[in-house]
Amino acid sequence: MPPAHSLERDHMQPKLWVLGLGVSVLGLLMTATTSAQYSKKTLVAHRGASAYAPEHTAAAYRLAIEMGADFVEQDLAVTRDGVLICLHDASLERTTNVEEVFPDRAVSISLEGRTRRAWVANDFTLAEIKRLDAGSWFDKKFAAEKILTFDEAVAIVRGKAGMFPELKTPEIYEGRNVDFENLVATALDKHGLRGPKADPKTPIILQTFGQSSARQLAQIKIGVPVVLLLGDDEGFKTSEQIRAWKGIVQGFGPAKEIVQRNPNFVKWAHAEGMSVTPYTFRESDARKSGFKDVTEEMSHFLYELGVDALFTDNPDKFPRK
Ligand code: G3P
Ligand code: CA
Repeated sequence: MPPAHSLERDHMQPKLWVLGLGVSVLGLLMTATTSAQYSKKTLVAHRGASAYAPEHTAAAYRLAIEMGADFVEQDLAVTRDGVLICLHDASLERTTNVEEVFPDRAVSISLEGRTRRAWVANDFTLAEIKRLDAGSWFDKKFAAEKILTFDEAVAIVRGKAGMFPELKTPEIYEGRNVDFENLVATALDKHGLRGPKADPKTPIILQTFGQSSARQLAQIKIGVPVVLLLGDDEGFKTSEQIRAWKGIVQGFGPAKEIVQRNPNFVKWAHAEGMSVTPYTFRESDARKSGFKDVTEEMSHFLYELGVDALFTDNPDKFPRK
């Protein structure tokens, strides 16, 4: 069963105001009932509307906004000349025609425990990356799509939705003289997206699987919420283990199976004022998880298990109440 308080969280605030309770009482209650970065059940478009358009392209981001996304996700990588780009993989071959354009530029690299030949994005300048077709792999009609810089993503999303950038594979930059966390901080400053004068129409939440990266963001006082992503629950099986991250990150982004297996995860995080934003909800695999469709699956997580937000490839299927 979900915790009773989380089922009611969206409706609690206005009722309290009607009852005329003081601000301090409301503040205390909100600590227990909402997390800092969300005021309602929140839709994060995973890599844009990536079920319908090639991930992390202008087409995917624009469609996500049209479909009502509260936040549009970016996975960030860094080019050889130090530019932040929106790319999920550390390498370019899955989502571009890099093998065709730069046949001799593959290297042997160990990623996620596997050594393979790859066209590592950090080995290419932005000018080289801009020569690539980032849409045809998905559908020929998207052949004109390019890999976006973070600056271009801001220009598309700003004022229309929040942004949810992930510092992707931070470990790849070890030994490559890339200060990923400070690059992100500088980019947010450049666009006025953090600090007391930050654009309220474009809220930012950062995310990373890298525990040392999350600690580094806290250390440099990044000034926007940070969500720690979890691929498994190793080290996050008790309320004490969750509490240990309080003050370092403001929420967790667990694989949805972690929450399904252990619904107490949500209760424990909320008790510490931290949010829960599981990933990834897709029409293409909802039935495998025993749901009629992805809307039913998202409803279960939002309204029965009590998560605050979620990442989905299908923003048009998000169940609002
Ligand atoms: O960032 C949330 C979710 O996107 C994590 O998985 O691999 O799609 O980045 P991935
Ligand atoms: Ca991601």
